[in-house]
Amino acid sequence: MKGLILSGGKGTRLRPLTFTQAKQLVPVANKPVLFYGIEALKEAGISDIGIIVGDTKDEIKQATGDGSRWDLNITYIEQEAPLGLAHAVKISEEFLKDEHFVMYLGDNILKSGITSLVEEFQQKKPNSLILLTEVPNPQMFGVAELEGGRVVRLVEKPKKPASNLALVGVYMFDAHIYEAVKAIKPSWRNELEITDAIQYLVEHGFEVQPHLVTGWWKDTGKLEDILEANRLILETLSGSNLGHVDDTSKINGQVVIEQGVSVKNSIIRGPVIIGENSEITDSYIGPFTSIQNNCKIILTEIEHSIVLEKSEIVEVGSRIDESLIGREVKIFKCPPKPSVYRFMVGDKSEIGIK
Ligand code: G1P
Repeated sequence: MKGLILSGGKGTRLRPLTFTQAKQLVPVANKPVLFYGIEALKEAGISDIGIIVGDTKDEIKQATGDGSRWDLNITYIEQEAPLGLAHAVKISEEFLKDEHFVMYLGDNILKSGITSLVEEFQQKKPNSLILLTEVPNPQMFGVAELEGGRVVRLVEKPKKPASNLALVGVYMFDAHIYEAVKAIKPSWRNELEITDAIQYLVEHGFEVQPHLVTGWWKDTGKLEDILEANRLILETLSGSNLGHVDDTSKINGQVVIEQGVSVKNSIIRGPVIIGENSEITDSYIGPFTSIQNNCKIILTEIEHSIVLEKSEIVEVGSRIDESLIGREVKIFKCPPKPSVYRFMVGDKSEIGIK
């Protein structure tokens, strides 16, 4: 069995971060989202993985490499434009050949991995296995309608959803999917939708087996979802300290402190991860916070947030909460006079002040 990870999307819902960074490389608990998918496929015994890349191909290739780090073979497949998930399958036929495969959306994380699902697919051999989960906002997803446990209809982002069962971004197929992706037409958003291709399978008598996901699942396409995925992953960490924490600092709960980190006169309440060579001085780092490498947090309180590498946050008067702060960002206190806010922020940035 092979794996196909989709990592070509533009990530418009995560701007401005995605103006300069692929959305699949945004870190969750200091690890790129994409790597969770790669590791889930590896754990399921898949060693040949194709990654679909688009505009951000160089960055993705550089971060991920040829797969040898995981003892995997990674092949990159270029998609000239984000023309849909079914289009990605279409252009991967040569790589996938006749093998059964798992398609995994590169911004999805599933708590329990996919190993048991891959086993189920291999044992029962349906033409496709789809993962479904109950969501409060089904109109944002592909939605499945079931009758007596069978899939009868699938609709992409329906205005009036027939159920609250969303398609999770992990799908398994046999070679019949090529017939489907060649037969369907682009949707209103001008994409070849995988939902329509699976609907084609249903209509043409192929077996599409639904599987309800019970553990958590996150599509990390939006800020709230990234923060929540970060929280859920941090909850599974166990603490360790490879850095230096001085005597006046207090560390509570599960806190991962990586090499070269210095913590001075600060309180860190886990779960928290602090990446290599970061400096935390006279500060409070609260639960569910990930700070990447080479950051400086000085005289600042922050919790439930993600700070990307080389950022500096110095003397911010109020506690920072539920924030995603990009790379090399500087947030600092202005001189006392005149009493002003001073901003230099990129397009589509969001700033909340009290
Ligand atoms: C895509 C699929 C949708 C699925 C979702 C899961 O949506 O089209 O059917 O429910 O992924 O993450 P998109 O991210 O393209 O909006």
